[in-house]
Amino acid sequence: MEKIKTITVVGAGTMGHGIAEVAALSGFKVYLADIKQEFLDNALSKIKWSLQKLYEKGVAREPVETVLSRITTVVNVDDEGRYTEEFAKILRQTDFMIEAIPEKLELKKQLFKFASDNTPSHTILATNTSSLPITEIASATDKPDKVVGMHFFNPPVLMPLVEIIKGEKTSDETVNTTIELAKRFGKQTVLVKKDVPGFIVNRILGRFLNTACLLVDKGVASIEEVDATVRYTLGMPMGAFELADYSGIDVFYYVFKATSERGFTITPCKLIEEKFKKGEYGVKSGKGFYTYPEPGKYRKPEIPKELAGKVDPSLLLALPVNEAAWLIRNDVATKEDIDKAVKLGLNWPKGVLEYADEYGIDSIINALNRLKELGVREADADPLLLEMKEKGLLGRKSGKGFYEYGEIEEIEKETLLIRIEKPVAWIILNRPDKLNALSPTLLKELSHALDELEDRNDVRVIIIKGSGRAFSAGADVTAFAGVTPIQVLIFSRKFQELTLKIQYYSKPVIMAIHGYALGGGLELAMSGDIRIASEDAMLGQPEINLGFIPGAGGTQRLPRLAGISRAKELIYTGDMIPAKEAYRIGLVDKVVPPERLDQEARALALKISEKPPLALMAAKYAINLGMETNIWTGLNLEASLFSLLFSTEDVIEGVTAFFEKRKPRFKGK
Ligand code: COA
Repeated sequence: MEKIKTITVVGAGTMGHGIAEVAALSGFKVYLADIKQEFLDNALSKIKWSLQKLYEKGVAREPVETVLSRITTVVNVDDEGRYTEEFAKILRQTDFMIEAIPEKLELKKQLFKFASDNTPSHTILATNTSSLPITEIASATDKPDKVVGMHFFNPPVLMPLVEIIKGEKTSDETVNTTIELAKRFGKQTVLVKKDVPGFIVNRILGRFLNTACLLVDKGVASIEEVDATVRYTLGMPMGAFELADYSGIDVFYYVFKATSERGFTITPCKLIEEKFKKGEYGVKSGKGFYTYPEPGKYRKPEIPKELAGKVDPSLLLALPVNEAAWLIRNDVATKEDIDKAVKLGLNWPKGVLEYADEYGIDSIINALNRLKELGVREADADPLLLEMKEKGLLGRKSGKGFYEYGEIEEIEKETLLIRIEKPVAWIILNRPDKLNALSPTLLKELSHALDELEDRNDVRVIIIKGSGRAFSAGADVTAFAGVTPIQVLIFSRKFQELTLKIQYYSKPVIMAIHGYALGGGLELAMSGDIRIASEDAMLGQPEINLGFIPGAGGTQRLPRLAGISRAKELIYTGDMIPAKEAYRIGLVDKVVPPERLDQEARALALKISEKPPLALMAAKYAINLGMETNIWTGLNLEASLFSLLFSTEDVIEGVTAFFEKRKPRFKGK
């Protein structure tokens, strides 16, 4: 590595000029070669513009001219198309060459042969190809051990990832030096141990975009439904179709074509082909899957949030996860590198395997089977996934999947089951044969469970749900037999205290509602922070049918959530309403298919559990207390809690992480 002083970048296009800029910014002497002076001039002016921006932002400390002075351009072919003597001379002084010329194998082989003939023995020859085999490029040289893949992402100055690809004959020393150089460039690396088409990122992205496309093609979902789910449910920075438009549908078309020609089986998706043939490439042509009033100018398409979750996220994740499993099983990359690659290369908030663990290996396999039924050829579950399912390694819910999450603790009470999947705790109402009717014992146990979980730092979010076929069919009516009004008063007060405990609990509480949520069941659900209901949920306050009224907050919380008249109608008639109607009137926050209820609740809980616990607590207090008082008191409370948070370590962490462009790690201190 110490030997590397001079770097030659061949090809001054989009990638080449960016790589040359990165190398110059890192202090290396750089030669930038291309076939025409005009390409080089264009590259230099782009580099200059970019350096100026970096300098203004304070990212680059050296003045533009200093960095530029390290770059020398060279025209490397003569009028007859032969490499010039000047180019050969430069290669003789080169310690490291990075090729970024058009993706044509013959062209690359010619260049590598010439480079191999004209560089000193120590010189490493790297290719930035994204679709051609490194091994074959290397075969044109006398030193295949010195040929390596170095795949940058666009734009190289900003994207933090470089995939380093080992060809069949690449030596470990070459790989190590290339990794070190990428680090000197300020990049993070992942190692692709075998030269497979598409490496890590493009294989996974290819599967992801193609699934999105096929789901629309086969009428399973609309473009907006897919994109809303990708953006809002999976939390990715852009929808799948939005990303295709942004990067250029033509680019993906060619990458898919090149990789499938190399044996990467991919079920063709008509939609992409049609767009390509019509010349509707996306942002650059003003129309792709969405329209852009000013061609070339990106404008975030409007994607309605309520469409999120209309398509099962497991369907979108299944093929990317299957691909990742293939990469691991074939020893192409480690699971850590795969996740790092998608996070840094695609800006996914989580690694593909982290998603798999979150959604569950079993649901990924089910989704693969559904895709298979739709005619997706490559949807056969990878043996690794089948083996994991067989061994019960299902992900977070079993404590271990691709990663370990620590032991799942299960505590069984008389009427509850408490399941701790750190950092989430599930409290499961467990009287299934009585539709989880809320007996005095259940209420007492629920209250104790909340107290115990409140003290645990490793639990950040609580989910309450029911076992069997209901969330809860309400207060246990049998407990009302022969009781005095005073005893009922005490019961009512106790139950109300429990709902207040949840309302002012220091951690977020999510209610996952399926089946019946009636009477006290609905009152319990209304005291939580967020309610997710499955499509089969039926909600209501049927007390009137028994001759009484709701006694655990129903007359107070229902109007606050659904408005006075809707609350009155529900309470006066005692009617049950289905989940969709409950969503419409604001009683639940989201409706999902029954089989996805747990998974959605877990995903939301995990998302919230990454946020600063003390700020979550403050937000909860400010909102809940504020809603019960006038705006002056509410604002005062907000200001006090806001300022109080500035005494926490988490604020320092949050702000520091923001500036360091990394994900914060909050401790709740
Ligand atoms: N209190 C005590 N037990 C209850 C209960 C409640 N609130 N709700 C249901 N159960 C029991 C039933 O008595 C039955 O027990 P059993 O098998 O020992 O007879 C069991 O749970 C299953 O209920 P069942 O009525 O057979 O189921 P279903 O599917 O026919 O009807 C409901 C479901 C929810 C419509 C019906 O159970 C019901 O109306 N429950 C009462 C709802 C209510 O009024 N809640 C407010 C109370 S304040």
